[in-house]
Amino acid sequence: TGYVTLDVGYKNTGATKSAITFLDGEAGILKYRGYPIEQLAQKSTFLEVAYLLIYGALPTKDQIQNFQKQINNHTLVHEDLKKFFDGYPSNSHPMGQLTGLISSLSAFYPESLHSNQTPDEINETIIKLLAKMTTIVSWIYKKSLGHPVIYPQKRFDYVTNFLYMTFGQRTEEVTIDPVIVEAMNVLLILHADHEQNCSTSTVRIVGSSEANLYSSVTAGISALWGPLHGGANQAVIEMLETIKADGGDTDKWINKAKDKNDPFRLMGFGHRVYKNFDPRAKIIKKACDDILEKLGIDDEVLDIAKKIEEIALKDPYFIERKLYPNVDFYSGIIYRALGFPTEMFTVLFALGRLPGWIAQWKEMRENKEPIGRPRQIYIGETDRDYVDIENR
Ligand code: CMC
Repeated sequence: TGYVTLDVGYKNTGATKSAITFLDGEAGILKYRGYPIEQLAQKSTFLEVAYLLIYGALPTKDQIQNFQKQINNHTLVHEDLKKFFDGYPSNSHPMGQLTGLISSLSAFYPESLHSNQTPDEINETIIKLLAKMTTIVSWIYKKSLGHPVIYPQKRFDYVTNFLYMTFGQRTEEVTIDPVIVEAMNVLLILHADHEQNCSTSTVRIVGSSEANLYSSVTAGISALWGPLHGGANQAVIEMLETIKADGGDTDKWINKAKDKNDPFRLMGFGHRVYKNFDPRAKIIKKACDDILEKLGIDDEVLDIAKKIEEIALKDPYFIERKLYPNVDFYSGIIYRALGFPTEMFTVLFALGRLPGWIAQWKEMRENKEPIGRPRQIYIGETDRDYVDIENR
């Protein structure tokens, strides 16, 4: 009934009004709550950015301390969830584990299930999710090594605690390298929100049915997994490794990406909204050089990435289609340098995007948005009479 506008892939359709993230794809501008991403990446911390996205303003000293304290009170995860986690095969994909574990939080913390939660109750669910995410992500990393999990410590800040649980060992007095803490903060800030992308739209649409926060975010994590979205960071490194194993013939692989009969795409290139450059890619490229230098790492894969970028940026195919390196082109190289296995990369994207998903879910609920329910244009059979099975 009525008039339906068709926009497959929602290329030109706005689904909401939002006050969280501003993005100008032509000019390459990205701002969270009005603050340019360049300033936040340089000066802020991930926890402060999370606060900014979720509550709308940069925190005062008291506010951030209180936020950190509240989170530190909830980093432990119910031990029964650990039993469930122990059941995953040790070689199962980290994203498969993450979706299962975050989804299960709704079963372990059922107070989140009431759609008439008060603002304070909603806030407690938000804090729990932010807190438990770091612990769960570190568990998944430890499992990939077959190592025992490390319990959180209240003396650390958000990112340091995550790195401690991830890279720490039970017996040693751990000091986390400040270079790594800083690198991780920058990476997580750059991923923290990106307006109505595939996973965030998914979180909003699931939440619009008044599904609880844990379930809504789990749907977002599933959407993120695909190689056209967050899965691109894993796909980039796999692509670069393949090119390296193939003798580093970058021209051959760029030609494959241009060939319309070949499904291969240059992973980490192109973006639905950025048609000039991805401002996050600029920051990350520089961060990548700095971190590899500080850690004294010489990675051949980085040389291949740079060569590909150089060739593609001069190639008419990429110029005409406005295809530039996106945030994921370089993020994987940094994660690798920090010691994360490739299959963990998309989980780290999820850790970064979590405050964005939460802020968008909260905004949608506070604005009392109606249930999301797109229409379609039906192109199937019209009238057919049922045929008995003997006569088909
Ligand atoms: N390599 C080769 N050709 C490409 C690429 C690529 N990476 N990306 C787009 N094209 C071509 C595409 O074939 C099409 O050509 P034509 O007009 O001749 O048919 C044209 O460029 C437009 O592409 P599109 O698929 O219509 O663009 P889209 O807006 O639907 O897709 C995209 C955007 C990011 C999914 C796509 O560029 C892509 O698949 N990139 C590789 C995956 C990737 O890096 N994803 C991470 C995105 S950034 C992180 C995040 O926020 O998730």
